Amino acid sequence: MANASGHTAIYPGSFDPITNGHLDLIERGSRLVDRLVVSILSNDNKQPLFSVEERMEMLSEVIGPFPNVEVDCFDGLLVDYAARKGATVILRGIRAISDYEFELQMALMNRRLGPGIETIFLMAGEEYSYISSRLVKEVFRLGGNISGLVPPTVEARLRKRKSI
Ligand code: PNS
Repeated sequence: MANASGHTAIYPGSFDPITNGHLDLIERGSRLVDRLVVSILSNDNKQPLFSVEERMEMLSEVIGPFPNVEVDCFDGLLVDYAARKGATVILRGIRAISDYEFELQMALMNRRLGPGIETIFLMAGEEYSYISSRLVKEVFRLGGNISGLVPPTVEARLRKRKSI
C-alpha cells in the first residue's frame, strides 16, 4: 500500500498482449509514483486473444524488476476503480498524434467523472512508438518476426498458440 503522502497511479489498458512499449511505460511510470497498478479492463467489448488471467500472468512475469508495480484487473468505470484503489493518478502513454484525440476524450471524461484524479501522459519511447498489440498480433499471424517487440514470455505464449 502507498503511505499516507504517497501517490498511487493506475495504468489501465487492454494489454492484449503486453508489448515492450507498455513495459517501457511501466518502467518509467514506476519511477514517478510510489505505487503503480497496471490494470486490465476485463469487460472489454473487443474480442481479446488472451484471457484476462493469461494477460495478468504475462504482466506478472515481467514486472519483477519493479517492486512498486502490481497487476490487477477491473470492470466498470475507471475512475470508480481508481478511487477504490486510493489512486490519484491515471497513467497513459501517447505514441503518435493519432493517439491524442482518443486520449484527450478519455482524460476529459475521466476528469468530469472523477475530478480528484489526474491523468498524466508519458510519450512512448521513440524505439517503441510504432508498436501496438494489434500490429504485433497481425505480424505474428502472418509469420513475421516479433522478437524485440514483446517480452520473450509473450512471444513464447504466442508460439504455443496453434493459430491466432
Ligand atoms: O488499451 P486500451 O484499449 O487503449 O485501454 C482503454 C481503457 C481500458 C483505458 C478504457 O477503455 C477504459 O478506461 N475503460 C473503462 C471504462 C470507462 O471508465 N469509461 C469511461 C471513461 S473514458
